[in-house]
Amino acid sequence: MSSAWKTKLNTEVYDLRNEYDKALDRAAGVISTGGLVVMPTETVYGLAANARDVNAVRGIFLVKGRPQDNPLIVHIADMEELSGIAVDLSDMAKKALRAFWPGPFTAVLKKHESIPLEVTAGLNTVAVRMPALKAARDLIKRSGCPIAAPSANTSGKPSPTCAKHVIDDLMGKVPVILDGGSSEYGVESTVCDLTGDVPVVLRPGGVTAEMIEKELGAVTVAGAVLDGLKPDEKALSPGMKYKHYSPAAKVVVVDGKDTNTIAFTIKNRYDIEESMGRTPLILCLDEHTPLYEGRRVRGMGKNQSDAAAKLFYELREADELGADIIYFEAVKTEGMGLAVMNRVLRAAGFDVIYS
Ligand code: TXA
Ligand code: MG
Repeated sequence: MSSAWKTKLNTEVYDLRNEYDKALDRAAGVISTGGLVVMPTETVYGLAANARDVNAVRGIFLVKGRPQDNPLIVHIADMEELSGIAVDLSDMAKKALRAFWPGPFTAVLKKHESIPLEVTAGLNTVAVRMPALKAARDLIKRSGCPIAAPSANTSGKPSPTCAKHVIDDLMGKVPVILDGGSSEYGVESTVCDLTGDVPVVLRPGGVTAEMIEKELGAVTVAGAVLDGLKPDEKALSPGMKYKHYSPAAKVVVVDGKDTNTIAFTIKNRYDIEESMGRTPLILCLDEHTPLYEGRRVRGMGKNQSDAAAKLFYELREADELGADIIYFEAVKTEGMGLAVMNRVLRAAGFDVIYS
C-alpha cells in the first residue's frame, strides 16, 4: 500500500474561480475512489480524503509525513451527518455547534464507533468541523462522505494559505489541488473540547475564547496554548506537543512593556545580526513599521485578525526573501491575538525575548 503513495503523480491544479463545477466533480471523484485532494477552506488549505476509508486516511499521514499519534479533523457539510460521527452530545455542545457552525470551529466530541481509529489516532473522541467556505462544503456533499483533512502542509511547516504554498509542499504527491485563492482567516480552526461541563480551547483560532465565553457562559483555555507542554505533561490535544509552523529561518518573538522598548530591542539585535553578515527580517503591525526605518520590515496589517491572516504567508515568504532570522513583535493575546501568539511561539520553539 505504502508504495502507491510514494509514486510521483501528475498533479492537476484547478482554479475554482474559472472552473468550479468541473473541478469539484473531478475532486469528488478522486475522493470517492480513495484518493487525496487539496481543498481550500476559510481557515487554511486542507489535505482531504474519505474519513471512512482507512487506506485513504493512511495516505494522508504518509503524504504529510505526519506522526501517527496526531489525530485528524473530520469535516461535514450538514448537521444531519453528525449523528454518524459523534455521539452523546451535551446541551452545551449542541448550543456551541448551533452558534459556531459553519465556521472555523472544531468540536472534540465522543466518537461514533464507525469512525476508524486511524482518524482519531486511537482516541475515543473525534474532532469535527463544518467549514464555512462553500467550495469545501460542496466538495464534501459531492464526495458523499465525511472528509478527514489536516492542514495541507508538509508536517512541521507553516499551514498553507494560498495555492502557491500548497504547490511548494505537495506538487507530485496528490492528484488534485483546488485553488480557492487566499484563505480568509489564515490560521487553523479553533479546536474546542466539548466533552466536559466547560468548553476547553485546545487550539485558539477564528472563533475566539471571548466568543465562546459569551455564547456558553464559561470557557477554559488549555495552559499549553501559550506555554507549551512541560516535559512530563500529557497533551490534551496531541498536536500540542509537536514543533510546528516552522519556516527555514529562525523565529524569535520579542515581547516587552511597551512598543518603544520592544522596537529598541529588535533594532539592537537586528543590527548585530546584520553586522555578522546575516539577513534579519522584522514582522510587526503596520503602524509600527516606521519605527524600523532603513531595515527589512514587513507589515502584518492593522490588527490581530490581519496578523493572523498574514502570519503563515509571511513566514513562508521570509524563506523566499532569504531571511536567516525573523524578529516578530508580540501582539496582545486578546481575540485573534491568542491564535497569532500560539502559532508564532511554536514557530519560534518558544524562543522569546522579554525587553
Ligand atoms: O482549520 C483547520 O482546522 C484545518 C482545516 C483544513 O480544516 N485543519 C487542521 O487540521 O488544522 P490539523 O490536522 O492540522 O490540526 C488538527 C488539530 C491537531 O492539533 C490535533 O491534535 C487536534 O486537532 N485534534 C484532532 N482530533 C483531536 C481529538 N480527538 N482530541 C484532541 N485534539 C484533536
Ligand atoms: Mg496542521
